[in-house]
Amino acid sequence: MTGRIFLKLIFTVLSILIVALVAVDYLASRVTEKTYIDTLTNDLASTGRVLGVMFDGDPHSRSDAEFQKVARGLGGRLTLIAPDGRVIRDSEADPAKMENHKSRPEVAEALRGQLGSAVRDSTTVRAPFLYVAMPADYGVLRLAVPLSEVRSGVHAIRLQMLTAVGMAFLPAIILAAFFARGVSARLATIIDFAGKLAQGRFEARLQSPSGDELGILERKLNETGEKLQNTVEELQREHTELEKLERIRKDFVINVSHELRTPLASIQGYTETLLDGALHDPNNNVRFLSIIRTNAERLGRLTADLLTLSRIELKTQRFQFAGYYINTLVEDSVDSLRPLAEKKAIRLMLDGAPDRTEVFCDAEAVHQILSNLIDNAIKYTPESSTIRVSASPVDGKDFVKIAVTDTGIGIPEEDLPRLFERFYRVDKARSRELGGTGLGLAIVKHLTKAMGGEVGVTSVLEQGSTFWFTLPVHDLGLSEESTVQGQLTGS
Ligand SMILES: Nc1ncnc2c1ncn2[C@@H]1O[C@H](COP(=O)(O)OP(=O)(O)O)[C@@H](O)[C@H]1O
Ligand SMILES: [Mg+2]
Repeated sequence: MTGRIFLKLIFTVLSILIVALVAVDYLASRVTEKTYIDTLTNDLASTGRVLGVMFDGDPHSRSDAEFQKVARGLGGRLTLIAPDGRVIRDSEADPAKMENHKSRPEVAEALRGQLGSAVRDSTTVRAPFLYVAMPADYGVLRLAVPLSEVRSGVHAIRLQMLTAVGMAFLPAIILAAFFARGVSARLATIIDFAGKLAQGRFEARLQSPSGDELGILERKLNETGEKLQNTVEELQREHTELEKLERIRKDFVINVSHELRTPLASIQGYTETLLDGALHDPNNNVRFLSIIRTNAERLGRLTADLLTLSRIELKTQRFQFAGYYINTLVEDSVDSLRPLAEKKAIRLMLDGAPDRTEVFCDAEAVHQILSNLIDNAIKYTPESSTIRVSASPVDGKDFVKIAVTDTGIGIPEEDLPRLFERFYRVDKARSRELGGTGLGLAIVKHLTKAMGGEVGVTSVLEQGSTFWFTLPVHDLGLSEESTVQGQLTGS
């Protein structure tokens, strides 16, 4: 395609050149021939006038030899004609054998008293001749010269003109060829680029587009490429996000069924054992029944936690937002967990915020968060140690930070980023043994977010952990959101 454009351009330039050459040739030959003949006619006319003087009075005054010599000197033919058209004397033929010349155009003109001239083929020589006739005493004096010389003269001038025009066009052709080659090369890169786009290689770009029309095309193509690249990247991002969500959903379903199956299998197994006779085995029946009870409790906790999570996620959980003193909220939760801590001889210390520090939240949700965090701290801390619960305003921000710090087993650094995911546990067996569901921290995270706060953890292995969350001081307008959502989902 590029090659064809190159050829078309060159062909156009050549066509223009040929048309110009033909026109120049035609005009040049016409003009030169006319000028030549005009000059020759004038020359012959003046010679004729001189000769006229020679033959005045008597056309036979000179001998035949002399007459022919004069004609030869002239380089042509000399004829004297009587007023009736009869040839009196001719330098090349016998006048007696020559026909009447009265009707020859140049002779007719001279007989009317004017200078006559004509160009035509001679009847005797069969070549073009220029005839010039003028009036004389005895009739008409006519001179004739062959035009072959004129023709070759004109031919030489034509050749020179054509060469000159051809030379003038040479730089034009070279320039056109360069231009055509440049355009062809740029088109080739544009085609190449379009091909890349078609193959989906949207990162390709055309280098430094110029200001001409091709440059505009190049810029537009670059813009198209950029837009396509952005769109594709956006789609890829969305796709990755969807894939991630889908993986999380699948993992969750697998986890839930697995978590439910374990206690269910245990309940089923021990019930069957009891029914098969162990019920009457005084050594084991109570133990089996208590295992069944433990697993039933575990199932209960699991379903309760799952329900809480799904309510928060689907935003069907109704929050009763209000302003509370943070110290009161923390004290209530700590008090309710004190019996649990005492079982392990753990001291629960409280580091309150300045008096009357308020937070805007749902009291029940804050209690749930604190219960989970303190419960974890008690579970993962050795006996007779201290757990510190603190509340303090965040510097420069309208938030209060509540932290639960223990001196327990700590958490490996690589587990920290995923700790708040559902069912994520550092030590699954240990968590189960301690009656955990693996959903506590996920609930903590979702509840905090629902109230406009954030969660976080810092931990050093075997030294202890600090779990913290923040609560807003003012109403962030989140209550309306959850109410509307609640109405929409019909709960
Ligand atoms: N205070 C803590 N000290 C050490 N590890 C903790 C602490 N709190 C939570 N973890 C780790 O985080 C995991 C997830 O906690 P959580 O979601 O409450 O589940 P669960 O308590 O049911 O195991 C726990 O299994 C435990 O490995
Ligand atoms: Mg827990």
